[in-house]
Amino acid sequence: MKRFTILASLIVGVMLVVACGGGEENDSDGSATTSVPATTGTVASAPTAPAAATGPDPALIAIGETKYGSCLTCHGADGRGVAGLGKDLIENEFMDGLSEAELVEFIKVGRGPSDAGNTTGIAMPAKGGNPSLSDDDIVAIIAYIDSLK
Ligand code: HEC
Repeated sequence: MKRFTILASLIVGVMLVVACGGGEENDSDGSATTSVPATTGTVASAPTAPAAATGPDPALIAIGETKYGSCLTCHGADGRGVAGLGKDLIENEFMDGLSEAELVEFIKVGRGPSDAGNTTGIAMPAKGGNPSLSDDDIVAIIAYIDSLK
């Protein structure tokens, strides 16, 4: 997920500051990223580089914006839902709890009114009712929804 990527780059940035300031990089937290300060810690200007390299992809978001047309009627141009049609996708704990791959699978299947997990009694159609959406299209839509937050 992009939010995780952004979080990870923030952690790397903090660790770089720690590494530059303290001259040591053997602190115990963030074990997955300890190799990054080891290779770049000696470069004074390094802390700004990771954040620039891992930001959201504007091209992907632009594709998602066009594909979001399949969701717009029910979830609204701002993603905040339309009463009686679709839910808010911006402040959404269900979505926050899923990985990108899990969210793609959910959107491909949808959620009928008789599904035990349904909360509104209204159907979320598979692929928003647009069978032509590919997995890549749905990934782009998710990136676009994230960009609205
Ligand atoms: C015909 C209306 C409609 C369309 C079109 C539609 N949705 Fe939905 N969507 C719903 C409804 C209604 C729900 C809530 C179902 C429920 O009560 O559990 C929902 C739920 C969701 C959820 C789960 C939210 C939650 O909190 O459970 C996601 C994610 C979602 N839609 C994404 C999309 C995406 C992405 C598209 C476009 C590809 C789309 N929807 C198109 C009506 C729609």
